[in-house]
Amino acid sequence: MYDPPLLWLGLVHCDRQTNSYNAERRKVDRPTSSLPKAALQEPIPNLFDGVEAPGRTRGGALSPKRPAIEKAGLADVFPYYAGFSFEWACNQLIKWEASGIVLDPWNGSGTTTLAAQHVGLPSIGIDRNPVANVVARLRAEAGTRQEGFRRPRRAKSRKIETYASDPLAAWFTPETIARIRDWYRLIIRSDQGFYSVGLVALFRAVRTLTKDFEGSNPTWVKRAKDSASLVQLSDQDVDSAIEREISFVTTRTVEHATRTSTTALINGDSGRLPLMSESIDVVLTSPPYLTRIDYAVAYTRELAVLGVDISADPTLRYELMGTTLTRSSDSLNSHSLGHAASQMLGQIAQHDSKASSGYYLKQARQYLDDLTTGIDELSRVCKSEATMHLVVQDSFYKDIHVPLAGICIEEAAMRGWRLLHTDRFEVRRSLTSVNKAARAYKKGEVEESVITLRRG
Ligand SMILES: C[S@@+](CC[C@H](N)C(=O)[O-])C[C@H]1O[C@@H](n2cnc3c(N)ncnc32)[C@H](O)[C@@H]1O
Repeated sequence: MYDPPLLWLGLVHCDRQTNSYNAERRKVDRPTSSLPKAALQEPIPNLFDGVEAPGRTRGGALSPKRPAIEKAGLADVFPYYAGFSFEWACNQLIKWEASGIVLDPWNGSGTTTLAAQHVGLPSIGIDRNPVANVVARLRAEAGTRQEGFRRPRRAKSRKIETYASDPLAAWFTPETIARIRDWYRLIIRSDQGFYSVGLVALFRAVRTLTKDFEGSNPTWVKRAKDSASLVQLSDQDVDSAIEREISFVTTRTVEHATRTSTTALINGDSGRLPLMSESIDVVLTSPPYLTRIDYAVAYTRELAVLGVDISADPTLRYELMGTTLTRSSDSLNSHSLGHAASQMLGQIAQHDSKASSGYYLKQARQYLDDLTTGIDELSRVCKSEATMHLVVQDSFYKDIHVPLAGICIEEAAMRGWRLLHTDRFEVRRSLTSVNKAARAYKKGEVEESVITLRRG
């Protein structure tokens, strides 16, 4: 059995190996334009824009749904899709008198690890998306003393044409990328504190400067149609955009200092947790849902900043749970699924719409395989009597209800977990309802559930 040593002594930094980028040669000759209007807007484009997500229900109960504008726990510094609320996460740990090591195997922007820090518990956050780990690290390091920084020097031997195949070349001219990369090099060579501040500032700046490439679907960003549509900025404009974001991120993180315990952040896979068996006391997490959100596509621009080009190399997309890409069926584990999961697969297989019995069935099977492999791993790494809190959202495939909460409860029970409590919250506008095609089929409102289970 895969049983590597426990990796959580001190703050484990996110994988810097992905922070390299390749540059090849291509020549583009364009005039310099001034800073786009979008760059002057205050908040960064928020994936929750227009999505109603109250922090409390009408009855006053605290909902896990992150409010549309949440500042608590630095959620506004880089709004991460499907993050739950910091206030709720802290409350959940306190309410259930959590003690020992807290794990989130789908840690996203690190709400769980930050909440654990806040209530004084050691924690481990794992995510396969390196963008998520940078944001989680920024939040975990808030309040750390930061080095000052100076504007980077222009690289001496600037071979502009080498930037034409940089992942950022989907939106920027090589001249503009050359300056962004001067900043990137400065940031990744810097020490504690400024590393995550600098990278998140770069994410924000790139997102703002490419706002015009966003469409109505918040998880898709277009690429420039031709070289004339690429964003071209002077060095001065790139510097101002990045410095403005550094100043914002620095101010927010200095204001927010709650470090009271150790956090380890690991770039890893929920299906292969790099943790010892029976080492975890509490799991607080929200897995990706069966809603066709592709986390790599949603963060294409931030991944490009880190040197990851998902259109040239879709490896990361294939690996993420809930991906819209389907892997070879040889890679599926042969789990026998419970009644709720099998029934849903049966309904999808029989649906008369195009591709239901082909692509969509395969994708749903793959999702359930990833989910159950994740629950297997959680069962392995958790101590007996460990507590697990899962935040999950039901959804619809066409007119078929996807009862994710029921599926999780059943699959966990098959692996030795007993249900202690379920809280349900109505989700009035979810991404399913934002998508017109899905709305046409939607029969009822979807619910978000918080499921609490005990091992053994
Ligand atoms: C619903 S989000 C979690 C949001 C988080 N609770 C927060 O507050 O930001 C699910 C996360 O699972 C991550 N993920 C997807 N597949 C994964 C895998 N195989 N291993 C680890 N993490 C994965 C995604 O990158 C995403 O960050």
